[in-house]
Amino acid sequence: MHSSSYCASQLSGLPSDPPLDKGHIPWFGHAREFGKDPAKFLSKMKQKHGDIFTIRVAGKFITILLDPCSYDAVLWESNSKLDFGKYARILMERMFDVKLPNFEPSDEKAMLRLTLQNKNLSSLTKAMFFNLKTLLLSDQNQQWQEGGLFYLSYSTMLRAGYLTLYGNEEENYDDPSSQDKDRAHSSEVYNEFYKLDRFLMRAARSMLTTVEQKEVARIKERLWKLLSVERLNCKANKSSWLESYKKHLEELGVDEDMQSRAMLLQLWVTQGNAGPAVFWLLLFLLNHPAAMAAVQGELEKVLGHRRQTMKQMHGISQEILDNTPIFDSVLKEALRLTAAPFITREVLEDASLRLADGREYSLRKGDRLCLFPYLSPQMDAEIYEDPEKFKYDRFLNPDGTEKNDFYKRGTRLKHYNLPWGAGINTCIGKFHAINSIKQFVFLLLSCFDLELKHPGSGIPEFDKERYGFGILQPEGDIMVRYKLKAS
Ligand code: HEM
Repeated sequence: MHSSSYCASQLSGLPSDPPLDKGHIPWFGHAREFGKDPAKFLSKMKQKHGDIFTIRVAGKFITILLDPCSYDAVLWESNSKLDFGKYARILMERMFDVKLPNFEPSDEKAMLRLTLQNKNLSSLTKAMFFNLKTLLLSDQNQQWQEGGLFYLSYSTMLRAGYLTLYGNEEENYDDPSSQDKDRAHSSEVYNEFYKLDRFLMRAARSMLTTVEQKEVARIKERLWKLLSVERLNCKANKSSWLESYKKHLEELGVDEDMQSRAMLLQLWVTQGNAGPAVFWLLLFLLNHPAAMAAVQGELEKVLGHRRQTMKQMHGISQEILDNTPIFDSVLKEALRLTAAPFITREVLEDASLRLADGREYSLRKGDRLCLFPYLSPQMDAEIYEDPEKFKYDRFLNPDGTEKNDFYKRGTRLKHYNLPWGAGINTCIGKFHAINSIKQFVFLLLSCFDLELKHPGSGIPEFDKERYGFGILQPEGDIMVRYKLKAS
C-alpha cells in the first residue's frame, strides 16, 4: 500500500517513500489534469513536493524524478529492476498494432546503431543531400510562394528522410523521371502519415473514439500498402538500416503483414522528430534577426562561393558540417525549448533509489518511474537564465567554442540538455539527424529567400498532447513566403 508517512523513515536513515499525491478522484487520481497539460501539472507538483514525488494517474502510481543530478541512477539501472521494454511494447501495440515475438529494444538498438553511424553515416548524408535537392530544387520557378512553415519543414524532412532510409523508386538520382516518381510517392507517404500523426498521441493514451478508431484503421491500411514488403523489395538505393531491419524481422519469424506494420512504426520513430525540430529552429531564426545574421555569416564563412553553386553540388562534406559552432548552438537551444520526451521505466521489483544528495527513496514493484528532462534541466531557471527565452548563443563561450559547463546548486551538470535522451534511451539516429537538419537548413538559407508572412506574429502555443513523446508540435502553422534565388 502507498502511504504518505515518509518522514520517519528518512530520519531513521532507511529509504522513504517519495511524497505521494493521489488527487481527489478515486482511481483516476490526477489523470485529467496530467493528460490535459503534463508540463504545467508536473511543474505545479514540483513546486509543491520538490524534485521527486509519486502521483496516481488512472489507477497507476507514477514516481516522477526531476533532479538531473540523479538521472544516472535510473538511466544505468539494470533492466531486471527497472524495465524499459514493457512500456515500449504497450505503445507499439496501441499505436501501430505491432507485436514482435521476443522483442528486446536494447538488442534491436545495438544491432541498428551501426547502420546509422560511422561509415554508413556518410552514405546516408550523401543520399539525404540528393533527396533534399530532388524535393527543393527541381522547380526552377523564381516567383514568391506562400505556405506553412511547419508543412514545409515536416513534409520536406520526412519525405527526404524516408527516401534516404527506405530507398528510391529508381537507381539514378539525376534522372528527371525517377525524381518525379520519388516526389509523387514520398508525397503520398507524407500525406497519409500526417493524417495518422494527428491521432497517434490519443491512440497511445487509448483515448480514440470508435469513429476515430475506424478512421485510423483506414489510414494505417493505406500506409501498410505503401510500405509493404513487396513495394520495398522493388526499391533502389535502400539503406543498410532498411536491409538490417528487414533481416532482423525475418529472423524473428514475423510474417509480411507484421513486417509492414513494423515499417510504419519505424517511419514514425525515424521521421517524427526532425521535421518539427527544423520548424522551431527556422521559426526562432526568423523571429531573431541577430541569430539569423549570425547563422548566415557562419554559412558564408564555411561555404563561401559554394553557396551560389549548391544546386550543382553533390553533398556537403562532414568537415564543413562539423565546423559550424554557431549553428550547433542554435540547434541545441531550439531543441532545449521544444524536446519533451518522458524517459519511462516499469519497476519490476521493490527497490531503492539513491539521489545525488544522499536522500534514498523506495520504489514499489508495479509502479512506473518517469524522468521529464524538459522541466529539469531544460526549463530549469536555476540552470538557465530566462529559460523560456530563445538565446542563440546560449551554448557558445565568448571565444566562439562550445559552452558545456552548466551548474545547479554549484554542481556542474553532466546532463544539462537531453533532447536526444540518455543512457539506453539515447537516440541512435542522432548524427544522421543532425547532418540531415543541417543540410536542409543550409540548402534552404542558401538557395531561397525566406521570410515570415506576418512578421511579429510570435511563436505559437505547443500542442499539449505531445508532451512525453519527443519534439513538440505547434497548435497551428505559421505562414511564410519563400522564393528561389537567381543562380
Ligand atoms: C531532432 C531529431 C530527433 C530527436 C530529438 C530524437 C530523439 C530521440 C530520443 C529521445 C530517443 C529515445 C527514445 C527512448 O528510448 O525512449 C530516440 C530514439 C531513436 N531514434 Fe531518434 N531522434 C531524432 C531523430 C532521429 C532520426 C532522424 C532517426 C533516424 C534514422 C532516429 C532514430 C531513432 C531510433 C531508431 C531510436 C530508437 C527507438 C527505440 O528505442 O525503439 N531519430 N530518438
